Amino acid sequence: MMNILKLNAISPVADGVFKGYDYSDSAKDPEGIILRSFQMHDYPLGDNLLAVARAGAGVNNIPVDKCTERGIVVFNTPGANANAVKELVLCELFLGGRKIVDGANWAQTLKGQDGISKLVEKGKGKFVGQEISGKTLGVIGLGAIGAMVADAALWLGMDVVGYDPFLTVRNALVLDRRVQVVKELSEVFKQCDFITVHVPLTPDTKGMFDKKSLAACKDGVVIINNSRGELVVSSDMAEAVANGKVSRYITDFPDETLLGKENILCVPHLGASTPEAEDNCAYMAAKQLVDYLENGNITNSVNFPAVSMPRTSAARVCVHHKNIKEILSKILSIVSSQGINVAHMQDQSKGEYAYLILDLDDVPSAASLDLIKSIEGVLRVRKI
Ligand code: MLT
Repeated sequence: MMNILKLNAISPVADGVFKGYDYSDSAKDPEGIILRSFQMHDYPLGDNLLAVARAGAGVNNIPVDKCTERGIVVFNTPGANANAVKELVLCELFLGGRKIVDGANWAQTLKGQDGISKLVEKGKGKFVGQEISGKTLGVIGLGAIGAMVADAALWLGMDVVGYDPFLTVRNALVLDRRVQVVKELSEVFKQCDFITVHVPLTPDTKGMFDKKSLAACKDGVVIINNSRGELVVSSDMAEAVANGKVSRYITDFPDETLLGKENILCVPHLGASTPEAEDNCAYMAAKQLVDYLENGNITNSVNFPAVSMPRTSAARVCVHHKNIKEILSKILSIVSSQGINVAHMQDQSKGEYAYLILDLDDVPSAASLDLIKSIEGVLRVRKI
């Protein structure tokens, strides 16, 4: 029986998928780990560990590079919480335009006073806001969430400018043709009244909103960040809000600098906190993990390529390897020297790394698997 360790509370929809596994928050020497935002960077990666499944999109809490070097597959669940995040962004677009939160907080202060309705009519002038219809929204990152936000904003009467240097053909095809896709991020800063960001945190995106980029924005821009706090330099943002360059900053990532400041609305990381999103993410993460543990198939991994084949033959051998010259022929020559026929194979690369599934007509010997393991550039070999 294989062990699956959960490092966060995971929706019970995963329980059914993990039937037959020892699945708990105390599983020892696990082959699989499932988690949400647990900080795994200092967590030991045991020798048995084959895969880590993130029930969510962001993987900045997982030591992805360390996992890759050891042939540990890291999965995430792109799109599974996209609707929940889209709905929060829509809510925040309205909150960015209108002073609803400030006004509602002020209304609470009227409790116990005489003539509340008169006080309301007298005081409401401080909370006048703007409509979003007819304004221009910039969507940075046109993946599952960004594309849904762009589409919904168009239906709310906004003009939409999109930016994504890694726009996939699939996402480009589903994107509404009315979205004006620009090649330079500076175009988003220049044109947009509202900006929402939907990119992962990477060394390239860290600090994307700093003094310089904020200065390039339109005066009075509203900025919404439900991706990761570190995309924004908080002190630069606080300064831009204080001097009115940014009329409102709304973020899912409160920090000491941002809290308690006028026109900065801090939401406690609620983007994916709906039962629907938690169920979708848990189910998708669990399915991907089980398909990998049982069949070696990879879908939605952030560190290894997508490779999947139906099981048809006597034995399956899966090899994680570096994407280097001649390695494939070395592996295949070991298999053929055993007199074993390769029924089907697939090898795909992702940057410096690659993954091979070999379906064989006979079961290879342990010695031949050891020989494959000893090839320079091979990270892990698994017979299923
Ligand atoms: C995500 O990365 O999927 C969201 O930030 C929600 C979460 O952390 O679970």
